[in-house]
Amino acid sequence: MAEILAAGVALKPALALLRAGDVVAIPTETVYGLAGDATNGIGVARIFEAKGRPRFNPLIAHVADMAMAEHIGLFDRLSESLALAFWPGPLTLVLPQRPGNGIHPLVTAGLDTIALRMPRGFGRDLIANLGRPIAAPSANSSGRISATTAQAVAADLGDRIRLVVNGGATPVGLESTIVKAEGGRLRLLRPGGIAAGEIEAAVGMALLRGGSAGIEAPGMLASHYAPDAAVRLDARTVAQDEALLGFGDRRAEGWQHAAAFRNLSQSGDLREAATNLFAHMQELDRVGARAIAVEPIPSDGLGEAINDRLSRAAAPRDNPAPAA
Ligand code: TXA
Ligand code: MG
Repeated sequence: MAEILAAGVALKPALALLRAGDVVAIPTETVYGLAGDATNGIGVARIFEAKGRPRFNPLIAHVADMAMAEHIGLFDRLSESLALAFWPGPLTLVLPQRPGNGIHPLVTAGLDTIALRMPRGFGRDLIANLGRPIAAPSANSSGRISATTAQAVAADLGDRIRLVVNGGATPVGLESTIVKAEGGRLRLLRPGGIAAGEIEAAVGMALLRGGSAGIEAPGMLASHYAPDAAVRLDARTVAQDEALLGFGDRRAEGWQHAAAFRNLSQSGDLREAATNLFAHMQELDRVGARAIAVEPIPSDGLGEAINDRLSRAAAPRDNPAPAA
């Protein structure tokens, strides 16, 4: 079983594991990440092994500062202004790779672009001390709900990794927003912890959405974040053999008889809902109900990312595709 160590005492043991080509689960401000040295093929391979993730799904390289970022990726003006505005924070930029950047090709699954992010907190300290970027997908088995607590990581991956660094519940609760500059415009590849509107306000133009050329965010297209129970969206009523995931102060009909109930945010606050999303899904899933019925959630602000994750959780599972 993995050891769980408080972030305050975990820096040295985490560094030792990374230097030895091993992986370590770490808190970031978005979700927990399963980190390996992005320049070490063994470390990166162990990430895929522990997650059971299809190899062709590329990972995000996490950096400690702009110098490290510019060594890895080629910044255009728009991407640079976004980095200045939002890093460290829940924004991932997809950039062309700088030749000879030392990133192991397994990280990018052979793409000539790379996803880059500067996280806040323990992860950033770890990278600065390592002096190298780390690759870190969300610390969950492939296709499962992302972990927002050290306990959730340990329950899922504990028998496959040696250390989980405990930084408490992650403040944002959703993965980073992923964007890519395309000829003077920006495309939203994955909604996430920074609302699209915040990015649009920062750059003064609308984001392009959907229908991007090529694979872009290949992990983002199919059934993901899947609990064991089926997931039913926009529920206005709930059956006795269903658990209910609520939002706001108006309840779905029949809620008193639901198998279990959690509210993402009683006051209808989308930020609070984002923070609670994965943990509440996991709690409701443990009840063993046939399905999780989800009350309607508005799609403005962070609601876009919340609804994105929920619709993936609700997607048909009979043809599982690569998961992030
Ligand atoms: O908040 C986050 O982003 C978390 C924390 C741990 O940093 N990480 C995370 O990583 O969510 P992961 O591996 O679960 O999701 C990474 C996403 C995938 O959908 C992948 O397809 C996309 O990033 N991606 C990676 N490299 C890409 C590239 N070169 N072009 C387009 N999409 C890329
Ligand atoms: Mg993931």
